[in-house]
Amino acid sequence: MTPTLPPTNYQPKPYTGLSADQVLALLKQFLNPGIFLYYKKPIMLVEGKMQYVWDDTGKRYLDGLGGIVTISVGHCHPHVVEAARKQNETLQHSTTIYLHPNVAEYAEKLASKMPGDLKVCYFVNSGSEANDLALLMARVSTGNYDVVALRNSYHGGNASGMGMTAHSNWKFNVPHSFGVHHAAVPDPYRGLYGRNDPEAGAKYAADVKQLIDFASPGQVAGFIAESIQGVGGVVVFPDGYLKSVHAHVRAAGGVCIADEVQSGFGRTGTHFWGFETQGVIPDIVTMAKGIGNGCPLAAVVTTPKIASVLSQRIHFNTFGGNPIVSAIGKAVLEVIERENLQENSLKLGGRILAGLEKLKAKHNIIGDVRGKGLMLGIELVKDRTTKEPAKAECAQVLENCRELGLLVGKGSLHGNTIRFAPPMCITQADADFMLAVFDEAFAKL
Ligand SMILES: Cc1ncc(COP(=O)(O)O)c(C=O)c1O
Repeated sequence: MTPTLPPTNYQPKPYTGLSADQVLALLKQFLNPGIFLYYKKPIMLVEGKMQYVWDDTGKRYLDGLGGIVTISVGHCHPHVVEAARKQNETLQHSTTIYLHPNVAEYAEKLASKMPGDLKVCYFVNSGSEANDLALLMARVSTGNYDVVALRNSYHGGNASGMGMTAHSNWKFNVPHSFGVHHAAVPDPYRGLYGRNDPEAGAKYAADVKQLIDFASPGQVAGFIAESIQGVGGVVVFPDGYLKSVHAHVRAAGGVCIADEVQSGFGRTGTHFWGFETQGVIPDIVTMAKGIGNGCPLAAVVTTPKIASVLSQRIHFNTFGGNPIVSAIGKAVLEVIERENLQENSLKLGGRILAGLEKLKAKHNIIGDVRGKGLMLGIELVKDRTTKEPAKAECAQVLENCRELGLLVGKGSLHGNTIRFAPPMCITQADADFMLAVFDEAFAKL
């Protein structure tokens, strides 16, 4: 039986704008060809409400990717929309050289979500900018230059983000990784040490120590990692990995940076921040995407001591902490709390993962299923022994899901991992719909 989308009371407005074909023609002429599109026939979304989106033809989809892990609390959530509207009608911009209550109140609220001494915020507009700033703070605060990042990571598309990223697909052939060393990815599915090795975390961490000893002057500015690798295909590190790495890095004078751009804000279910699932407290945390539920907001949160280094020179960001984005950021945190979205991620993420295990038993193309909360992945392989990536099949599953009313994404170096991170407001009926769609999409291959 073809899966059917759970019902909704929401009626989208009739769409009367340009057709998808017209928009595609304009894009081809006036936008950079580097902007890639999903699907053989690109989709145009014109309206969204909570976990659902509508295309220009009025077809509804469950947004299983949440605008690439960005719609945390739901499309056009009424509380977020109201916060933005109120501020939009009052003062849209003032800049950081004047006081404004929104940025102060928001920073206080965000700091209240952080453990330990992570209490000082600096707001920027994107994850790439946040990571660039974190790198600057790490280097200035330690007086060291070298940084260890991980293979299979994604940290942004600007010069320093690209430098820390380790995926040939995303690295242009220009100098950008000076002083950055990439350690082995602690990948329990493809890496050297598997899920059954209780020492895997410490063993992978030893590679970071090797890089410090052999590739750096023995002293480093820091270490950066996504707490769960997103673009790399939802790679969840073995227990104990970050604990061991942090000890090696701090012993070499470095600070530890957690990139929470995808894994933060309750998405992992058990914890508010992804790094907490590894039992560590970093020195610097970068965040973006879900922080703003779709508005350009990002942040670097660190300790007062590390934060103070930015006063050595002038550091300025025109829009950072602008009154509108601050109002939105605060509203997002309020919704996560009021609607128990972290708990919902835990409950429904667990339900989906258990369902994926059953699908794995049924469809041989599924090599691995993994993730935490509502940050999940399905890695497709042509052969479970050789683990040869099933890239074309993965693209076809995305097409099949789209036909059936589900939008999901793909990741990994070879584009063979389906990844999904729906808005955290999905219901049990949505979770079951996703599983039914995957089952059908694999069966149709
Ligand atoms: C983990 C991670 N860090 C940083 C970034 C860069 O964020 P932005 O695209 O907002 O610059 C991304 C974007 O996908 C990301 O996934």
